[in-house]
Amino acid sequence: MSRDGPATRAIDGIDIDACVARMARKLARYDDHQPDKSAYPNEAKADVWSTVPASDWVSGFYPGALWYVYEFAMRRQWPNPDLWRQRAHTWTAGLTAEQFTTTNHDLGFMIMDSFGHGYRLTGDAAYKAVVLQAAESLSKRFSDTVGLIRSWGAIDDPENFVVIIDNMMNLELLVWASDNGGPQRYRQVATQHADRSRLEFFRPDQSTYHVIDFNPQTGGLKRKYTHQGLGDESCWSRGQTWAIYGYAYLFEATGDPRYLEQSVAAADYYLARLPADHVPPSDFDSGLAGLEYKDSSAAALASCAFFRLARLCPQPSDQVRFWHAAVNTLESLVQAPYFSSSPSHASALRYQARNFHADASHRLTNTSLIFGDYFLLEALLAYDSAIETTRQ
Ligand code: GLY
Repeated sequence: MSRDGPATRAIDGIDIDACVARMARKLARYDDHQPDKSAYPNEAKADVWSTVPASDWVSGFYPGALWYVYEFAMRRQWPNPDLWRQRAHTWTAGLTAEQFTTTNHDLGFMIMDSFGHGYRLTGDAAYKAVVLQAAESLSKRFSDTVGLIRSWGAIDDPENFVVIIDNMMNLELLVWASDNGGPQRYRQVATQHADRSRLEFFRPDQSTYHVIDFNPQTGGLKRKYTHQGLGDESCWSRGQTWAIYGYAYLFEATGDPRYLEQSVAAADYYLARLPADHVPPSDFDSGLAGLEYKDSSAAALASCAFFRLARLCPQPSDQVRFWHAAVNTLESLVQAPYFSSSPSHASALRYQARNFHADASHRLTNTSLIFGDYFLLEALLAYDSAIETTRQ
C-alpha cells in the first residue's frame, strides 16, 4: 500500500462492526429456524430464503458466510465465537459428499467456501482431506485437447464443451490443493485454463463474453454467447467481476504479471462504465438504470477484487485508485437502498440479479442472492484487515 492509501481510509461511512453484527443476526436466524440442515439458502425476495440441496452451486456460500462471522467473532473477541464455529461446521459437514462430484465446475465455490475456510480457521486435517479430493474431482473436467475445464455439461459430451467466464473463480481450489499436498498437475490445469480464457473471453475493449462452446474433439471454437447477459455481444456485469476477481486471485497465487494485467484491464472497463452509486446494472448494455435492474452482488465481489488489487498492484497510483474503488463500492452497499434496513428481511444485500437474459422469461432481477451476502462479508473483513495492517 502506498503512503497515500492509509490517509484516505478514515473518510468513509462504513461501520464495520455494526454491519457484520447485523449480517450475523440474519445468518443466525436462518440456522435457528431451519430444522433441515440440508436446505441451503439461495434467493430471497423478502423475509424467507428459498432453498437448494447440497448439490447446488450456491451451497457453499451460507457455510462460508458463517465461517467469516466466526473469523470476525475471534478477531473482535465476541463472547461466544465457538457458537459460530459450530454453526459453520454443521453446514459445512452437509457438503461432505460433494467432494466426489464431477458433474459441475462449481466445486471451487462449494468446497473452498466451506471446507477451505474451515481448514484455514481451524487447521482441522479432516477439512483439508475433503478439499484435496474435491480438487481431484474438478481436475477430471479438464481437457488437454481444449486446454480448459468444462464448466457445464456431461463430462464426456462429444458435441459440446461449454466454458463460462465464472469458471475463473473455481481455480483457487486447484492451486490451493497443489500447494497443500496435491499434485502439481492441478496448478497446471488452473494456469492452462486461465491462459486460454484470456485469449478467448476478452473482447478488444476488455469486456467479457459469458459463455463459449468449443469442439471437444479438436479444441476449436464453436460459438460465443450469453446465458445471463442481455445479448451475446453485451457485457454481463457479474461475469466481468468474476473475471476481475479470478485473475487478481491467480496473480496473487502465481506471481505471473499477465494475470495482474488482465485483472486490471477488466477492472478498468468495469470502472469506466460504473454509475455514480458504484453498483452496476446487471448488464452494462441494458440501458436500464432502475434499482430493479441492478446487480449489487457484482458490486460486492468487485469490492473484494479491488481490495486485492489495491494490495497487489506495484504502482502507488493503482493502489490508491483501487483502494478508492473498493471503499466507495462498499460504502454504497452498506447503506440504503442496498443494505436492508428491515431486521426481518432474509438477506442483508438487496437489488441483485440472477439473470438478465434478453428473453424476459429467463429474467430474474430485483432479488437477493446468498452469494451477495457472502461477498459483502468478505469485503467488510478485507476492509477491516487492511485498516488493521496500516495501524501496525
Ligand atoms: N456463476 C453463476 C452466476 O454468477 O450466476
